[in-house]
Amino acid sequence: MDASQVSNVTEMVNALQSPGGIPNHPLVFMVLAVLTFALHILFVQLLLGTSVITIWGSFSKNTHWRRLAAAMLKVAKVSTSVAIVFGVAPLLFVQVVYDPHWYASNVLSAMWVIAFIFILIFAYWGIYYYYFQNSKNKDKTVQPKSRWAMIFSLALMLVVGFIMHSLTSQMLHPELWKDWYTPNGVLDYSGSKLHAYNVWRFAFFISMAIPVAGAMLVSYRRFKSVRSDADHGYLNFAGELGKTWIKVGSVISAALYVSWMMTIPETAGDFATSFWGIIGGVLVLFYAVWAQVRLNGEAKFCSYMALPLALVIGLVVAISREMLRYEILDGFFGYDFMDYKIVFDWYSTIHFFATFLIVGGAVLTYFLTVAWQAGQTVGVYTPSPFVNRLGTIAIWIISIWTFMFLAVGFYVWAFR
Ligand code: HEM
Repeated sequence: MDASQVSNVTEMVNALQSPGGIPNHPLVFMVLAVLTFALHILFVQLLLGTSVITIWGSFSKNTHWRRLAAAMLKVAKVSTSVAIVFGVAPLLFVQVVYDPHWYASNVLSAMWVIAFIFILIFAYWGIYYYYFQNSKNKDKTVQPKSRWAMIFSLALMLVVGFIMHSLTSQMLHPELWKDWYTPNGVLDYSGSKLHAYNVWRFAFFISMAIPVAGAMLVSYRRFKSVRSDADHGYLNFAGELGKTWIKVGSVISAALYVSWMMTIPETAGDFATSFWGIIGGVLVLFYAVWAQVRLNGEAKFCSYMALPLALVIGLVVAISREMLRYEILDGFFGYDFMDYKIVFDWYSTIHFFATFLIVGGAVLTYFLTVAWQAGQTVGVYTPSPFVNRLGTIAIWIISIWTFMFLAVGFYVWAFR
């Protein structure tokens, strides 16, 4: 591309930016985008990895595998919900600072963006159908029914992920948007194509499901082993499998990371050999070494560290991924999200963080306490009065928040 073509693209992209500005410094949105993306992709990987274990175990004749499959199905279900919630968050932040790119990419593939919702609904339904078909069965070692639903769900989840991947890839090519919109000079309004993708990049993010699910297994063994009715033979089987998955999976993922870096767009210059280009892959490989060195014997503390460590590594990869986008969109095309016009709005900023910390914090504390204690209790779990009070407080906080939300909406609608 010559300089005048690049400047045409820069002008086009800047013209697409919202003139209304944003309510706080662009860096705030960017930090939140990276943070929530790291959480999103961790739970996506957890859901994919534990779904694979569920499917594999459902076809296995080994009773340990069958039990593990039933246990991991629960993780897959919860991870799907969390992945979706944490999927919406980066969506909100990316569309704020990269609105020209995000919306252009979405409009170019509008049919897929709409289909995304329906595909996701069917994928979610698949997991629950499988769950309800088998939940009444107390003996987790018999062959489960309707295994097709679980396979169907996993396949659709991958399609959903691929759509997101493609939208993200299309954002990186503003120089091609016009060609995609007018193939051979004829306008194409259909939005029926996904125009850009990078198999290595997609495979890298998906392959991280192996070490992340491995981390889940290692934590699962540790968590359940404190119960008086613990079956250590079964739990050690899960733990050993987890260690292998972390080690083998991290090596596979690191290789895919290198392939991704070798195939990034030319507009990224020498990003692949820069600090941020290298560090992501190095840390993924480090995960294998860590598992080899630290997950020996009981590994009481390190077993619990496996998942948080996966999150930290994912966070660094998320930063690398964001730096790549910045390198292309600012470095080559001259769109710097940091220059976004700011129109400070303290109410919405305070409202957002207060919701995040107070509402999210209170409800999560309650849920996590109940889940943790119930998981380690033999027989029926009865929450203590303190935990019950925590639940009541969480409900009050949500009710007050909902009331405030509606009241502000009504006030704006009626009086402004
Ligand atoms: C449950 C199945 C899902 C899977 C397997 C999945 C997978 C992925 C993957 C692989 C990426 C990284 C793409 C890349 O950088 O190449 C990604 C990014 C993303 N996903 Fe998901 N995702 C899922 C659901 C969702 C949902 C329900 C939402 C929100 C409605 C969502 C929103 C996002 C966003 C906003 C990004 C980042 C876009 C960007 O930074 O440009 N995802 N997802």
